Amino acid sequence: MAAITIRRAAPGDAAGLVELARSVAAEPGAWLLTDATWRSAADERRYLRAVRSSPHAAVFVAELPAGELVGRLSVARDQHPASSHVADLGVMVAATHRRQGVGRALLDAASGWAREVGISKLELHVFPHNLAAIALYERLGYESEGLLRAQYVRAGELVDVVVMGLLLGGSPAAMPPGLASLR
Ligand SMILES: CC(C)(COP(=O)(O)OP(=O)(O)OC[C@H]1O[C@@H](n2cnc3c(N)ncnc32)[C@H](O)[C@@H]1OP(=O)(O)O)[C@@H](O)C(=O)NCCC(=O)NCCS
Repeated sequence: MAAITIRRAAPGDAAGLVELARSVAAEPGAWLLTDATWRSAADERRYLRAVRSSPHAAVFVAELPAGELVGRLSVARDQHPASSHVADLGVMVAATHRRQGVGRALLDAASGWAREVGISKLELHVFPHNLAAIALYERLGYESEGLLRAQYVRAGELVDVVVMGLLLGGSPAAMPPGLASLR
């Protein structure tokens, strides 16, 4: 992990992030909601530009010294005013760089960002068969909040997901004024 940098994503990371996502999505373990497809680099670039300095969403990357991206975490605030203190996240690490602390470092970065922008709860959905991810989340204090049955269609089949959450503390009053006034 020593040589890997965790930083906010920039629009120029789009191609590398699409490549990473496509390779993780194509793994036989079926870890992600999407299968072998992922958004295009152009769509990714647009998204990264939109969230670059947003208080409502962020993308973090894990980068090798030569520039290769080996991890990604996306986190976005819930858009409903009554739950805008909650943000949903997704994380992936290249198969070649797992068990080196990258996933943990990305999740720590997300927690730091969330606290800064007044988010007091992080949540995620994980497939019940994804024991590595569940172990990582539990290690960081996330707790299982239940099973959503037949919640998604994946590769043409209805699949269940476990909801996990981490309470960060803090008060929703710390939310950006624009959103707070909607409550
Ligand atoms: C889940 C994932 C993000 C973990 O990333 P990672 O960089 O390998 O995780 P870390 O090295 O930071 O692991 C931190 C801790 O999590 C736990 N953990 C991670 N992977 C584990 C595994 N395969 N088995 C058991 N525990 C595991 C361990 O406690 C580990 O600490 P340790 O290595 O000191 O024992 C990675 O396996 C991945 O990208 N998988 C495919 C995509 C995916 O499943 N994304 C999540 C979708 S919900």
